[in-house]
Formats: sequence, structure tokens, C-alpha cells
Amino acid sequence: MFVKKILVHNFRNYKFEEVSFCPRVNLFYGQNAQGKTNLAEAVYFALQGQSYRTRYIKNIIHGGCEKMGVAVDFFDGSYDSQLRMVISSGNKRKVTMDENPLEKGVSHAGLFNVVSVCPDDVGLIKEGPSGRRAFLDGILIKVDSLYHSLLRDYKASLDNRNKLLNTGRRGREFDAWNESFLKLGEQIEKSRLALIEKITPVVRLMHRKIAHSNEELQIDYSFKGSDKGLRESFAQLHSKERVIGRTLIGPHLDDLVLKINNAPIKTDGSEGQIRTALFALKIGQARMVKFFTRKNPVFIFDDVLLELDEGRKKAVFSEIRDEYQVFVTSTRKDVVEGLRKDDTVMYRVENGKVFSEKR
Ligand SMILES: Nc1ncnc2c1ncn2[C@@H]1O[C@H](COP(=O)(O)OP(=O)(O)OP(=O)(O)O)[C@@H](O)[C@H]1O
Ligand SMILES: [Mg+2]
Repeated sequence: MFVKKILVHNFRNYKFEEVSFCPRVNLFYGQNAQGKTNLAEAVYFALQGQSYRTRYIKNIIHGGCEKMGVAVDFFDGSYDSQLRMVISSGNKRKVTMDENPLEKGVSHAGLFNVVSVCPDDVGLIKEGPSGRRAFLDGILIKVDSLYHSLLRDYKASLDNRNKLLNTGRRGREFDAWNESFLKLGEQIEKSRLALIEKITPVVRLMHRKIAHSNEELQIDYSFKGSDKGLRESFAQLHSKERVIGRTLIGPHLDDLVLKINNAPIKTDGSEGQIRTALFALKIGQARMVKFFTRKNPVFIFDDVLLELDEGRKKAVFSEIRDEYQVFVTSTRKDVVEGLRKDDTVMYRVENGKVFSEKR
């Protein structure tokens, strides 16, 4: 799959722009605040129906406008197709695929395997556990059609369980919600552990190739409570839960621990090590989704390449460039120096206008 063309209308600082892409590396370069990230975001938005930068449509619609539109022409491996989206400031959406309207509330996100890496993603490694849980859950949602409803049902039983713990009401009602909380929680943990088992060798290999040294990445799941899982954690911590009046266990509190040569990256990793681990995780994510769904990934590297040294950057590209489409944003044209000329197209972005250039 690759995106052949995008058309944006009232998207961020773009009034109206149409840009054709190449199937490999597409570099958007130019000075600060010209629209490089906005264009990369538009590609992501078209394919996923949401942004990786904001949850609010009002931030995305061109200042003060009522409506915005994004359309992409893409080649799905066999056929050319077109996806169109028109969105109002109140987030009312009309989405069509080859002119056929998608059913209301149905998302087209699962049709594509898009992976973005942006500066904020460093938080996936450096900050609290919620980003790491979301990383695992995001992959599982893409590869397991039931996982989304599993998370939703778990959240419902957790909310009810919390309510009953908070009011001190026990008895049958608590037992029933607690049982579904434990059962669904165990299913989530089981899915996450199975994913980690599959993704770890992929991420470790990727990490070894990018780091090009004897650094070994370790990925471990960490249960909140007992290492033996949710029911054991329940046995250990329930009396404390009753005193405190809220849930202290469960997959919504678990974490993913990342280490290099036994030292936690979160606290001990250098900037380069953190970014290397981030790329290894993201490429691992794309590969995992590809493995289960057969969908070729599209990557977006938004302002994240300059921090990698030349060796690491080349290793990242050699892992993806021959097969997949990549959108790169940078203030510097030379960020893709050293890559083959025939699979790279450069676009100069200037004040919401895009100029394609020959290398
Ligand atoms: N909803 C919007 N309407 C109009 N303009 C917007 C909107 N959202 C963002 N902008 C503007 O778009 C411009 C370009 O933003 P963008 O993030 O794409 O810059 P960039 O080229 O990636 O720059 P940098 O190199 O600093 O990352 C900025 O001036 C920003 O204020
Ligand atoms: Mg930017």
C-alpha cells in the first residue's frame, strides 16, 4: 500500500493543496512553521481518521473555517482507490471510499498500517506507564478485532468495581463485578503477554541493527501487584483496596519495562539510546501489524531523524526503505543525504504551499 496523492482543504495552514508522492521516501523540508508537520499530519489523518498531535478537530481546521477536507489516492497493492473525508467544526464526518459512503460510526483506520514517530513519542519511554500500555493496546486493536470491545467491557467493570469499593458496598453485586473485572483483566493481560512474546524478538533484532553495538534491549511486562498475575494480585491487595476504597490492581495499572543491558532506559538511557529504542519499538509495531494483517506500513518520521547519528539513521532507513513508504519532515534537506536518489522525492514547504523538487 502507498499513498499516491493527497488533497487538503482548510487543513491547518493549508487553504487548498494537492501533492503527489513517491512510493518510498518523501521529504518535506523548509523553515520552521511553514507546514511540514501539518502535511505529514494530514497524511496520517486521512489514513487513520485522527491526528497523532491532537484530539480536537477545532485545532486542525484552518483558523475559523466551518469545514475541512482531506482526500487520498492510494494503491492498495492491487487497485487504486480514493478515500475522502469532509469534517465540520462540530466533528460531523462524511467519509467515502471510492465514492461509497462509509457507515456512520465505522472507522476506516483498520484498513491501513500507519506508524508515526514524532518528538513527543520520546514520552513513550521516558514518561509514565500509560503511553506504554497504549502502545501495546494500539497494536492489539489493529490485529485482534475483539480487543477494542474487551477494553471497553473491562473499563465498565472497573468503573462499577471502583464505585462499590468507594461506597463500601460489598456482597453479591461487588462479587459479580469483581469476577468480570478479573476475567476481562486476565484476558487483556494474556493478550498483552502473547503480543510481547511475539514482538520482543522483532524489536530486539531491530534494536541491534540500529544501535550497531553490543547493547541488548529487554522488554518485560510488569504487573501492578503480583508477578503471578491478576488473581494473585487480588489475593494480596484486596484488603488494602477495601481500606483505600478503590481498585489497586489490573491491566490499567500495569507497565512495560524497557532496559538496555539490564539498566532501565527510562532513567539511565542516553538521548540516542532512547530514540533508538523508540525506533525499534515503532518499526516492531509496524512489522507486527503487517504480520497479522498483511498490510504494508506507511511511516511518518516527523522531526525525529536529526538526533540519530548517521549510522543509526542509515540503519533505520535500510530496514524500511526498500519496501515501505516514508514521510519525513525536517528543516534540513541533507537529512536524507546518503539515501538513493531514485527512491527519494523532496518537497520544499513554504507558508502552506508545497513545491516538489528533483534531487
Ligand atoms: N488550525 C490552524 N489554522 C491555521 N494555521 C495553523 C493551524 N494549526 C497550525 N497552524 C500553523 O501552521 C504553521 C505551520 O505549522 P507546522 O507545525 O506544520 O510547522 P513546521 O513546518 O512543521 O515547523 P517546524 O520546523 O517548526 O516543526 C504554524 O505557523 C502554525 O501556527
Ligand atoms: Mg514540524
